[in-house]
Amino acid sequence: MASLSGSATGILARAIGHRLEAYKVRHMEITAVVATAYGGPEVLSIIESSVGEPEPGQVLVDVRAAGTNPVDYKLYSGTYGDDPSKLPLRLGLEAAGVVRSVGGDAEGPSGPIRPGDEVIVFHASGAYASAILASAKEVLAKPSALTFEEASGLMLTGTTAVHALRATGVSAGATVVVHGAAGGVGLMAVQLAVADGARVIATAASAQHDLLRSFGAEPVLYGEGLLERIRALAPDGVDAAIDLIGTDEASDVSVALVADRRRVVTIVAFGRAAQLGIQAIGGGPGADPGTEIRAAARLELVRRAEAGALRVIVAATFPLAEAAEAHRELARGHTHGKIVLVP
Ligand SMILES: NC(=O)c1ccc[n+]([C@@H]2O[C@H](COP(=O)([O-])OP(=O)(O)OC[C@H]3O[C@@H](n4cnc5c(N)ncnc54)[C@H](OP(=O)(O)O)[C@@H]3O)[C@@H](O)[C@H]2O)c1
Repeated sequence: MASLSGSATGILARAIGHRLEAYKVRHMEITAVVATAYGGPEVLSIIESSVGEPEPGQVLVDVRAAGTNPVDYKLYSGTYGDDPSKLPLRLGLEAAGVVRSVGGDAEGPSGPIRPGDEVIVFHASGAYASAILASAKEVLAKPSALTFEEASGLMLTGTTAVHALRATGVSAGATVVVHGAAGGVGLMAVQLAVADGARVIATAASAQHDLLRSFGAEPVLYGEGLLERIRALAPDGVDAAIDLIGTDEASDVSVALVADRRRVVTIVAFGRAAQLGIQAIGGGPGADPGTEIRAAARLELVRRAEAGALRVIVAATFPLAEAAEAHRELARGHTHGKIVLVP
């Protein structure tokens, strides 16, 4: 094999050095959370990685807060399969932060995006990070009435709640039962339904009843006797029911209360939905993804939050490096509002 002369080696080393410098200029070092295997929160690690400069239509955002959602831990728990080729798996679907730089034509649903703008990133890929590169289409203006932590939890829960309320035809004068009302999606559904003039009967543990009352709902304890407790509150009947928890109790009570099964929806119990003939929405098998309804809801959610008519309750914040602890808390299933990661 031919060997390089001393001067040729020097030229090559300089060329590599220049390329490395050019790469460093175009790439920014970041920290990010990944699942390195399928399992419990112990498989989460924090890694050093890099992101490139935004291409046309892209935006680079410094993350100030990343919203967590139960789907984040379901993605590596094995709930949706355990394909090893997907590992290591970056996590996080939504964040709020400040725009660092933009590619050409960076226009999002709220209008043109500029460096320094405070934004929400939705449908993000790997939002558990110090910075993310996102399509401008998924970048919205952050409502100034919300902190970064609050804004990071607005979109996934809010769009799901809007979809559930539309699917069940909830409007002014209707009585709706919301199961799992004190969770991330539940608190959104309660606020949106009350603001639209509906009467909301909200199931939750008793410690959350004052919070639900403060949002205008009528809280009721879940567990044995739930059907009778709701009938006592609404002797004239219930028009619609929204299951945000997926227990048999929630779907059984819903079909017992609501005459028209098309006005019962679940966001979790997809198998039971098919058996009972109720609606299922979201990303599960046989469920309606509601892509257009959810996309159209985003600016409406921003507008309501900006006007002070929609609040995001932050239950807890954790440093990004403590994502595993945040997920242990989230997986207990009794979060009231949002758990947020702060880089
Ligand atoms: N299909 C979709 O599009 C979609 C979208 C978003 C979320 N999801 C799924 O929907 C579920 C809820 O999401 P989330 O973000 O709202 O979760 P979350 O914030 O963790 O809230 C869960 C809530 O359920 C309550 N709860 C627990 N056991 C209950 C029971 N037996 N009956 C009634 N309430 C109970 C808990 O509070 P207390 O027990 O203290 O009252 C807690 O507030 C998750 O499984 C998530 O993956 C689906």
